[in-house]
Amino acid sequence: MRRAARHYFLPAEVRDEAALDAPLPIGYDATCSQPSTVATMLTLLDVGPGHTVLDVGCGSGWTTALLQELVAPGGAVRGVEIVPELVAQARANLEAAGYDSDAVEVAAPGTLGLPEHAPFDRILVSAEAASLPGELVDQLAEPGVMVIPVAGTLEVVHRERAGVHRRSVGAYRFVPLQ
Ligand SMILES: C[S@@+](CC[C@H](N)C(=O)[O-])C[C@H]1O[C@@H](n2cnc3c(N)ncnc32)[C@H](O)[C@@H]1O
Repeated sequence: MRRAARHYFLPAEVRDEAALDAPLPIGYDATCSQPSTVATMLTLLDVGPGHTVLDVGCGSGWTTALLQELVAPGGAVRGVEIVPELVAQARANLEAAGYDSDAVEVAAPGTLGLPEHAPFDRILVSAEAASLPGELVDQLAEPGVMVIPVAGTLEVVHRERAGVHRRSVGAYRFVPLQ
């Protein structure tokens, strides 16, 4: 987080508040997530060098940059975002901060995640689903781990050859997964 400084990923109006441990508005009803929550999610994701990672709801691009730090060397990160204007912002932010700006793309209508690039070793979801989306579980490698807010709680989902195991780690609020 010190290397991928949050202020690069915030609009000018809230850049002075980068150090606040709070979600901050980035426009289009989206937020740059709370740093302590992002740290918890990345720790639970257990992501490391060489992993291929999908960042669903990449918003400002901050989580994409953090993931790019964590998968180096040898890994790859793809971010997907439903709001095209935010993808443009994320690309500009990633470039300004020295990260790969081609890593983020606009979600295809009616498609959750990036099934054409699956499987992923890790999937980070920063928007809250009403129930666990099977489309994203299907995009996990075996073994693979996904961290996703589902109906008010944060879940860690492990996919193994033997099956899918879900664990709830506490109550969290996020913008809705559309
Ligand atoms: C909490 S915000 C952004 C978090 C982001 N990781 C960051 O740190 O800036 C969650 C984002 O999920 C996006 N989103 C909601 N549903 C989505 C979907 N089905 N596919 C991709 N992005 C989605 C929203 O537009 C929003 O930008």
